[in-house]
Amino acid sequence: MKKLFLFLPSLILLACQPTQTPSGLKENASFPVGTAIRAHQIINDSAMQAIVAKDFNSITLENSMKMYAVHQSESDYTWDHVDDVVDYAQQNQLRLHGHAFIWHSGTPRWINEMAPDSAKLDQIMEEYILTYGSRYKGKVAGWDVVNEALLDSTGTYRESIWYETMGEGYIARAFELAHQADPEAVLFYNDFNIERDTVKLHAMLRMVDKLKAQDVPISGIGFQMHIRMDTDEETVEYALKKAAETGLQIHLSEIDIIFNKHDDTPGGGIQIYDELTEEMLQAQAEKYQWLAEAYIRNVPAEQRYGMTVWGFSDKHSWIPSFFNLNDWPCLFDENMDPKPAYHGYMKGLGNSK
Ligand code: G3I
Repeated sequence: MKKLFLFLPSLILLACQPTQTPSGLKENASFPVGTAIRAHQIINDSAMQAIVAKDFNSITLENSMKMYAVHQSESDYTWDHVDDVVDYAQQNQLRLHGHAFIWHSGTPRWINEMAPDSAKLDQIMEEYILTYGSRYKGKVAGWDVVNEALLDSTGTYRESIWYETMGEGYIARAFELAHQADPEAVLFYNDFNIERDTVKLHAMLRMVDKLKAQDVPISGIGFQMHIRMDTDEETVEYALKKAAETGLQIHLSEIDIIFNKHDDTPGGGIQIYDELTEEMLQAQAEKYQWLAEAYIRNVPAEQRYGMTVWGFSDKHSWIPSFFNLNDWPCLFDENMDPKPAYHGYMKGLGNSK
């Protein structure tokens, strides 16, 4: 009885303390922390919703805002998924990033099959970007206006139907139209490997300089940042610094970090590690921490549009099916539990405050 009496004050004290909700990734950063997510997951899946609510304040739809998803024939638009997600984002104070207006892989089949001439393709682009951009004006914070227009190693223009038909002017035209549709939206050029392929990086920077010199309304550069554990850190830091020198917003737009290798082509995975060890988990935590710190170190605060992971769990990552590769690229594991990578990322983000 005497013992219980002695414990009582501390028990009362504990009961009176406000319940501590563990803070999420977003509270640890002074810039938006995003994730890609699929429309059905954010609308219907309560486990996914709970993680998004705790950790993220920005979302990008992994596929549902691509041209092939919304513009399935010349006369048709399908807005249902986007409308639902726009409503969800607004109700839950999530920034919505638009991905992507013009992308060779996002181009619907009907355009390729039509093989339009330059005037016709220009008309298709105009009608599409103005319709789409205006519909979500003020609701989509920024857009990947042109995605992956450059080739690895050479930095020359990718021979997509857009380039082949309209010439390099299709890029400027897409930005002009996106700006006309929503003058407040942040407008990005987005690409992969520009953090590690310096030839491609410099080609991208020359293209951005040229667009700026022509008063094209480009306002951001997106580094997809699909990187590997052996990605050279100095090269990445150099790329971020050079990109920040443009004065544009910088988005790390599709982050994931794999252990194995691939050749960038579908099915091109090279399996080196079959199993995930404690050491690998720790090393990945350090790499995520370093990436957040590298962003903070090289991108001035006013240019930090944010860091976005391309899905947060190994269970839903695009990597295994795309590259035919077993890997563990994300912050959460197959069971949707946070990995050491999550805590490393949290620590890195914390250095922005
Ligand atoms: O929804 C269908 C499903 O009904 C069908 O049974 C299944 C069979 O293949 O396919 C499903 O659609 C797939 C879709 O992802 C949803 O999982 C498509 O085939 C597949 O092509 C699509 O892949 C997406 C890819 O872009 C192409 O749009 C990936 O999820 C997505 O992560 C990936 O994202 C790209 C970025 O947009 C641009 N940067 C590179 C990044 C990774 O490739």
